[in-house]
Amino acid sequence: MNILHIDSSPRPKSHSRELSAAIVKKLLQVAPDASIRRRDLGADPLPHATADYADTLSSPATLAAPLKGALDLAETLIREVEAADVIVIGTPMHNFTIPSVLKAWIDQVLRVGRTMESTPAGKVGMLPDRPVFIGVASGGVFTGQRGNQPDFLTPYLTLALNSIGLKALQFLPLQATAFIEEGQAALASEKVIDAIDLTVVRELRDVAA
Ligand SMILES: Cc1cc2nc3c(=O)[nH]c(=O)nc-3n(C[C@H](O)[C@H](O)[C@H](O)COP(=O)(O)O)c2cc1C
Repeated sequence: MNILHIDSSPRPKSHSRELSAAIVKKLLQVAPDASIRRRDLGADPLPHATADYADTLSSPATLAAPLKGALDLAETLIREVEAADVIVIGTPMHNFTIPSVLKAWIDQVLRVGRTMESTPAGKVGMLPDRPVFIGVASGGVFTGQRGNQPDFLTPYLTLALNSIGLKALQFLPLQATAFIEEGQAALASEKVIDAIDLTVVRELRDVAA
């Protein structure tokens, strides 16, 4: 089993990193032989879309004849997704949504004619589905009765991943990190990790065996 482990917090020691690492650890309990590909967008941010990349994506004609090298980075990132049986993403909430480094990754991975088709009914994914576990850390609260801010992270990331065919998503939010004391952080993320449903990963492992 191949796991693609993506982090996007700029902080080396961060709640979303701890969450994503704990998710990977839990997956390894189910599939101890899994190999892990790391993509640390927080430590090594991707460039924003370049002029050549944006020109190439600007019309069906330019997409059909891409500028030399313009799609190389995108291709590398898409192949990492394609090689993964399971994807784990750690993301902070930044201003109600994902951080810009994760958006820069999305901008490379979503492409008409490569990972999605544009149809009259909307975008249709071209990649086979696979489980995606998303550990979200937010300073405040965005769900439930105590939620007091809009959540553009969950719906946006859901739509972006769905649009390339990734639909088996599990969001695992650790909220109110601004109010969690150092000693309580591990306990709080343990509770989040306990909520993971690993059925789909066990099925994948059993099919591969
Ligand atoms: C630029 C920036 C914007 C933020 N915006 C929000 C926000 O909209 N809502 C929220 O609840 N927390 C917000 N926070 C707080 C972070 O979500 C919180 O510190 C979280 O734990 C960060 O994840 P990390 O620990 O993985 O870095 C923001 C933090 C930063 C740096």
